[in-house]
Amino acid sequence: TTRKYHIDQMISAKAIAARIEALADEIKAEFDDTPKLVVVGLLRGSFVFIADLVRELDLPVEVDFIEASSYGDSTESSREVRILKDLRGQIAGRDVLIVEDIVDTGHTLSAVSEYLTARHPARMKTIALLDKPARREVDFKADWIGFEIPDEFVVGYGIDFAQRNRNLPYIGSVKFDDDEG
Ligand code: PRP
Ligand code: MN
Ligand code: MG
Repeated sequence: TTRKYHIDQMISAKAIAARIEALADEIKAEFDDTPKLVVVGLLRGSFVFIADLVRELDLPVEVDFIEASSYGDSTESSREVRILKDLRGQIAGRDVLIVEDIVDTGHTLSAVSEYLTARHPARMKTIALLDKPARREVDFKADWIGFEIPDEFVVGYGIDFAQRNRNLPYIGSVKFDDDEG
């Protein structure tokens, strides 16, 4: 059964690009003196954001990826996040920026930051393009946030709905047609 839906634009590609330029300036200021910044994308949702962000970072950069398990349809709050694919490189004593598309309940990014903190990076920061504070289940806030958004089902710019719509160039809000009058 497939529910019919349409997608309303929430954040335009232009607005995203402008915000990324501003965030990149802040990141450059923070990591001004870095020998090399390890930019870590959380698969799969962050792949578009990390691609645009690193191209605005005028710093020596290494790109790596990590994948954490989705807790799927579970609605329990004691959600366990497992690592499905680990980093290729070492991060001990190095500068690290973890890049995420969205912080929803907070379980994914908070678990991955704890997991990587245990490797003793020199400095580690987190950035999320979107933050949905209304859905938070753990006390976690990314160091940089692109946009705070309301509790709406979003897709695009890397974010999927059942593995679709990641390729939309903007952030859209999913509207189920049978929800509307
Ligand atoms: C989504 C999203 C974040 C996470 C946020 O990933 O990309 O990684 O959920 O949710 P949370 O704050 O409640 O943990 P998903 O598990 O769907 O995997 P994907 O990135 O491969 O789509
Ligand atoms: Mn994800
Ligand atoms: Mg997903």
